[in-house]
Amino acid sequence: MTRRFPDGFLWGASTAAYQIEGAAAEDGRGPSIWDKFTRRPGAILNGDNGDRACDHYHRFGEDVELMKRLNLNAYRFSISWSRVLPYGAGGVNKAGLDFYDRLLDRVAEAGMEPWICLYHWDLPQALEDKDGWLNRDVAGWYADYAQLIVRRLGDRVRHFATFNEPNVATFKGYGDGEHAPGIRGRKTALQALHNMNLAHGLGMQAMRAERSGLLLGNIYNLHPVEPATDRPGDREAAEMLDAMWNRAFPDPQILGRYPEALAEEMTPYIREDDFKIITQKLDYFAFNHYTRLRAKHDSNHPFGIAEVPPPQNRPQTAMGWEVAPDAFLAQLKEAKERYGNLPIYVTENGAAYPDTVDAQGRIKDRDRIEYLRAYLTAIHDAIAAGVPVKGYFVWSLLDNFEWALGYSMRFGLVHVDYDTLERRPKDSFHFYAECAGQNGVDS
Ligand code: FCB
Repeated sequence: MTRRFPDGFLWGASTAAYQIEGAAAEDGRGPSIWDKFTRRPGAILNGDNGDRACDHYHRFGEDVELMKRLNLNAYRFSISWSRVLPYGAGGVNKAGLDFYDRLLDRVAEAGMEPWICLYHWDLPQALEDKDGWLNRDVAGWYADYAQLIVRRLGDRVRHFATFNEPNVATFKGYGDGEHAPGIRGRKTALQALHNMNLAHGLGMQAMRAERSGLLLGNIYNLHPVEPATDRPGDREAAEMLDAMWNRAFPDPQILGRYPEALAEEMTPYIREDDFKIITQKLDYFAFNHYTRLRAKHDSNHPFGIAEVPPPQNRPQTAMGWEVAPDAFLAQLKEAKERYGNLPIYVTENGAAYPDTVDAQGRIKDRDRIEYLRAYLTAIHDAIAAGVPVKGYFVWSLLDNFEWALGYSMRFGLVHVDYDTLERRPKDSFHFYAECAGQNGVDS
């Protein structure tokens, strides 16, 4: 049976600059924290980096064509801050802005609505050299950057997001140190967290001042958390993970306060009137979602948390993430209940599997198709239950650079041969094209 989605539902794909663009040192782009972090021995699996990635910088025309074949009506991508502002602040790199101009023209020709995310984890290294997200001034630098982008591209783009998964950028970048810039600590994570919330607020104000009629929000990352056991230590770890991972950004930005598990510890970072800046009216509620999380106590971790893999008998992806569409449905309902009746967009969802190209050149990724079918069905159920989900963006269009895991994890609907850079649609590509084409999912 085909479950149809409401008219006007958005079918999209998401990508991120550092994961696909390549051309790391071309046309005046400055380095970001990921260019530096990927050089740190042992930081990235197989020593991979994003220097070339999918070479989207030169092949974006072909990639937009692929999205056209997917019947998409929306495309979400991020801007590389250091491509347009090589030093993070000050001198503008015209060639960098021109690239996004060309991309937007193609996206418009293909009949897709662009969604721009301003920050997908790639802070200009020049700003990290001034302490990056640990320096309160970063909020102002960020706002200037946001204003520049809206001034230049706002005539063709309505939807802007201030950040992608700010929780990951702080918790992994300045907490456990597994992501750029690779800083480990508890205070550093909390400082970065507050400064990123401030940047969101100042960025929202700057964009609204620059242009009216924009639709603005932030892209959160929400995953239900369970304790691994009933032991008090594990329950505490789960509560802390829930606060850091799920609540530390939407709560202050929408509800005007930090979650209880963090509130006291955050006070040294908060200045008078900060919440007036942070808590801005959002036009939509967007979040990325992949799985359910399990936590146990770990005294060696800055926040006392270790993630626990799912029980062996549960289906899981190559990332070791449980396939749990029930958790997704619960998350969609909770988002509506907790944060009010904003239009909801799922801005990332998808799965990595060890794809193989067969002798006929085909990639029969049945597992990915079943994952997508189950998660799209959950969205359909959520809409039937009154949750205002307005769009879905698959992660991802292309196989790409998966952060600390390098090129080992393939999330794309399109397979990329990293030697030749040839793109090859997988079976899931045709499945998703059919969903988008019929505005519904067969289940
Ligand atoms: C999300 C990131 C995205 C990608 C997927 C698999 O956390 O936003 O860049 O790495 O996970």
